[in-house]
Amino acid sequence: MIEGLRRWARRHTEQSRYSPIGIAFHWTMAALVIFQLGWGWYAGLVAAGGNKLLAYQIHGDVGLLILVLAVLRLAWRTIIPGPVNDADTQGWQTKIAYVTHYIFYLCFFGLPLSGWAMWSALGPNAPLAVGGIVPWPALPFDRLPTGLQWAIMDYAEDVHHLLILLLTALVPLHAAAALKHHFWDRHDVLRGMLPEIPDAKQPGRGKRHAPRPIGSPQA
Ligand code: HEM
Ligand code: HEM
Repeated sequence: MIEGLRRWARRHTEQSRYSPIGIAFHWTMAALVIFQLGWGWYAGLVAAGGNKLLAYQIHGDVGLLILVLAVLRLAWRTIIPGPVNDADTQGWQTKIAYVTHYIFYLCFFGLPLSGWAMWSALGPNAPLAVGGIVPWPALPFDRLPTGLQWAIMDYAEDVHHLLILLLTALVPLHAAAALKHHFWDRHDVLRGMLPEIPDAKQPGRGKRHAPRPIGSPQA
């Protein structure tokens, strides 16, 4: 089955394009992450009370959805190599792009996990559910001494805030780099991350790069 999936994906990656599943993961998660950054700040501004708890509950539910999608996306990227495109031959810029991708994955996991730890250390409050649908348990921190609960809360909050800063700085840089590749350098990078518009006149146009080897560490 995996070989079949790889064969299917190669039809896209051989043309320097991400597979439709890779593209769906990218844009769905990009939208959720941008929403989540905005909503997190908004929840902090809501006056204390029921609405604030609801705002953080929505924040937690969306964050857990991001965590589940991150697990699926990482599995997908491990099995299916991404395309090789013009951005792979730009020296230090390519290295920065790879590091950025790794940091994004770190945030996809680190933010929900630190958020979950905070939520659990706060003691019994509202229940969590992935995407507001599938129930998700709290970690059993309520059995720990109060001092330790506070220490976990403190540490998880620091991690959450550090990753928020990283993500908030890197998202605009990443988007600007994609636009620069597209409009300035005329590279094929952004085209490969956009849904394909079939070109009946010139099928296979743009087939220029050799496929990436299976198991390649590129992010
Ligand atoms: C990718 C996922 C996530 C992103 C991008 C994110 C982003 C944010 C942002 C921007 C804030 C506001 C920070 C501030 O006001 O200083 C925040 C706060 C918070 N988030 Fe998240 N979050 C994510 C996942 C989660 C999850 C899954 C939970 C809980 C299960 C959670 C729980 C919290 C809590 C309790 C706070 C308030 C903590 C504080 O600022 O003192 N977050 N988050
Ligand atoms: C929260 C917002 C975003 C996040 C978290 C994000 C994350 C990522 C990640 C992790 C990758 C690596 C590919 C993969 O592993 O699937 C990637 C690739 C890419 N992203 Fe984004 N992205 C975001 C927004 C955007 C925006 C707004 C644009 C366009 C303006 C964009 C354009 C691209 C392109 C063109 C690639 C392919 C890069 C390459 O192959 O070298 N992304 N993105």
